[in-house]
Amino acid sequence: MLRVLVLSLMCLLLSAVVSEAKTAVTTQPFGKLPDGTAIEIFTLKSEKVEARVMTYGGILVSLKAPDRNAKVADVVLGYDSVDGYYANSNNPGTAYFGALIGRYANRIGGAGFTLEGKKYSLPANNGANTLHGGPHGFSNQVWKAKTIPNGVELTYVSKDGEEGFPGNLTATVRYTLVGTDLKIDYSATTDKDTVVNLTNHSYFNLAGQEQATILQHQLTLNASRFTPVDAGLIPTGELKSVSGTPFDFRKATAIGERISADDEQIRLGKGYDHNWVLDSKSGKLAEAALLYDPSSGRQLRVLTDQPAIQFYSGNFLDGSVKGKGGATYALHAALCLETQHYPDSPNHPDFPTTHLKPGGHYHTVTVFSFSSH
Ligand code: GLA
Repeated sequence: MLRVLVLSLMCLLLSAVVSEAKTAVTTQPFGKLPDGTAIEIFTLKSEKVEARVMTYGGILVSLKAPDRNAKVADVVLGYDSVDGYYANSNNPGTAYFGALIGRYANRIGGAGFTLEGKKYSLPANNGANTLHGGPHGFSNQVWKAKTIPNGVELTYVSKDGEEGFPGNLTATVRYTLVGTDLKIDYSATTDKDTVVNLTNHSYFNLAGQEQATILQHQLTLNASRFTPVDAGLIPTGELKSVSGTPFDFRKATAIGERISADDEQIRLGKGYDHNWVLDSKSGKLAEAALLYDPSSGRQLRVLTDQPAIQFYSGNFLDGSVKGKGGATYALHAALCLETQHYPDSPNHPDFPTTHLKPGGHYHTVTVFSFSSH
């Protein structure tokens, strides 16, 4: 009797230890940039999920998760080495695979804005507009990195005037993995009034990064409105109801179902490339999106405290990129779910503000949570 009791107590203790098993974090060299800068890669490994993040662009290089039969696949697009990322991010048509985006994610219309009565001009890298922080945005900078419990902390100091933005901005991004949840915690401070909008630009294909398209993936977006765009993909300022449009993802819908609909916004975006206004009270971590792949059973829940999410259906992928393991990334090979503030907010005083003041603290959290069924 006593032996049974002792044994079951031991089992209980053991299971407690196992359930609290720490994520193993290891670091390795990951090649060099053409100027000789050494790049490091951090591997975060929990019992079920493995995430790899490198110092170049703070890029999420791979993310491995199990399907309904416990078969593991890499579910994000990218390259096998830093050379591919470097070449792509220095190309005007860069895809931003897996990268941290800043100082301002998505577009700033007319490549400029006025803040506190001062005009700032930015380099235009997307027609007349500035996309993803400009041609030398955070996505092609080398971040300082250190291991933290369950993850890695990356820091980048963006100088006053860099890519036209005012103020020295110190950005810190922590990727941590606990169980099946990859959390990205962003913070920033400045020494001058500035604007900031950070995100991660991972391209997901839950069937596996080498699979053809995401058109069969089912998407739910907890958003009743979106921000329609003009021909340059700049918000017109309207917050439009999704009701009765191909933008209504309040119920799980296959992405391919309405992607070619006869709709002006679909035509302008060449598919989905829009900002959805989340119904949740911004500032509170809540589910923004749910993505499910019926073929593998993999499911991704995106939680955020941000006011919006950009759903981009990989409309500029055209098969010209040779990715990991020789994979060809054709049209709609993957999709991005970029948690963010609305594009072009600095030019829309009625949008939630992206103004960061000296002494203020920008802080936001996004969680990519995996499961399967
Ligand atoms: C964002 C934009 C898209 C495109 C991609 C990168 O999601 O909204 O228009 O530029 O980045 O290719």
